[in-house]
Amino acid sequence: MVKVAILGYGVVGSGVAEVLANHLDSIARRAKEEIRIKYILDVRDFPDSPFADRFTKSFDQIVNDPEVRVVAEVIGGLDPAFDYVKRCLLAGKSVVTSNKELVAAKGAQLLKIAQDNNVNFLFEASVGGGIPIIRPISQCLAANDVIEIAGILNGTTNFILTKMIREQMSFEDALALAQKLGYAERNPAADVEGHDACRKICILASLAYGKHVYPEQVHTEGITKITLQDVEYAESWGGVIKLIGQVKKLEDGRIQVAVAPMLIDQDSQLANVDDVFNGILVRGDATGDVVFYGKGAGKLPTASAVVADIIDCVKHFKARKYLYWEDGVKDYVLPYEESVVPVYIRAHAQDAEAAAVKAEELFGAVRRLYRDNAPEEELAFSTNQEWSIGDIKAKVDQLEQSGVTVDAVIRISDL
Ligand code: HSE
Repeated sequence: MVKVAILGYGVVGSGVAEVLANHLDSIARRAKEEIRIKYILDVRDFPDSPFADRFTKSFDQIVNDPEVRVVAEVIGGLDPAFDYVKRCLLAGKSVVTSNKELVAAKGAQLLKIAQDNNVNFLFEASVGGGIPIIRPISQCLAANDVIEIAGILNGTTNFILTKMIREQMSFEDALALAQKLGYAERNPAADVEGHDACRKICILASLAYGKHVYPEQVHTEGITKITLQDVEYAESWGGVIKLIGQVKKLEDGRIQVAVAPMLIDQDSQLANVDDVFNGILVRGDATGDVVFYGKGAGKLPTASAVVADIIDCVKHFKARKYLYWEDGVKDYVLPYEESVVPVYIRAHAQDAEAAAVKAEELFGAVRRLYRDNAPEEELAFSTNQEWSIGDIKAKVDQLEQSGVTVDAVIRISDL
């Protein structure tokens, strides 16, 4: 029998305990060992929980107990999670986590400690909730050079955008519902400002290209500025707005990476990924496009991935699983201003027709977009040409200097 500990009894932690207890026999068959929860660490009391006798408030009790071979860290955040995970690995325990903030900030360091201590550090649940993506990239697609990864990586924002598009629900109401359903982060700013998706694309980029990409290196925008007008214009353009995390390998060895709302064509494989679902497209040189789809957030989907990692650790006490990337380096990421894209722009001006003429002077031929009941002053268009982000900013400034107020600039993706 293998004894495990769970650090944190929040949405995911309680799901992990539930899955381990409810699937005891099938898990034992797959792991070839019975897996029992010995401790659950939480600062709160849960006297009515079916696991009430396993709760402890002492991390030391867990880290000093040689019977505990695997620890599931589902506290989230960096402090105290980083310290706890490091100490567990140093104590010779394998660790699994759903904590994307931790892996995105400290992945290279923790993978090195795990390697030095001959234990496993696995984090399937950190990206895509219940969708298998870490293992497929590191194992099943290992024969490919990964050309690009692009995905809808945050369930909460996708849920909000879907509610805005389908039900004209306000941003605030949709967010409140996502929180109630257990999708959102403790601080939902991490979802709506794009930081959660940023952490996930960092993890995928680090894994695919073997060098740590840190969140500070990634241009990150959220969905807080997206309005129902933009949603309507996107529809008239022939697509939808989605929050996309995207990374591409460049010929010079650097990578291009960003998280931003993007207009994607209705025919794209990601266009119909709705609600709390995530969709992740991996473009391999041998496989072509492979798309992973499933529930990207929520108690049981995420717990399912954490428990699968626990099983994998139990099966690999003797032979370590190879999962590794190096520390990151400066200048590895293309400066955001240099990335080249077409864009959609929404603006208003006293004379919208004159503003359209000015827009064509600056951006070349543009495609005008229309929506029902738009005020006369409103103007929306997509550029036919691609421009660098730096050029786009300069052209937007020029447009504004001519008396036009630019209300939205959204990149158009090639997905
Ligand atoms: N808040 C995250 C999301 C949870 O909405 O995707 C899963 O990582």
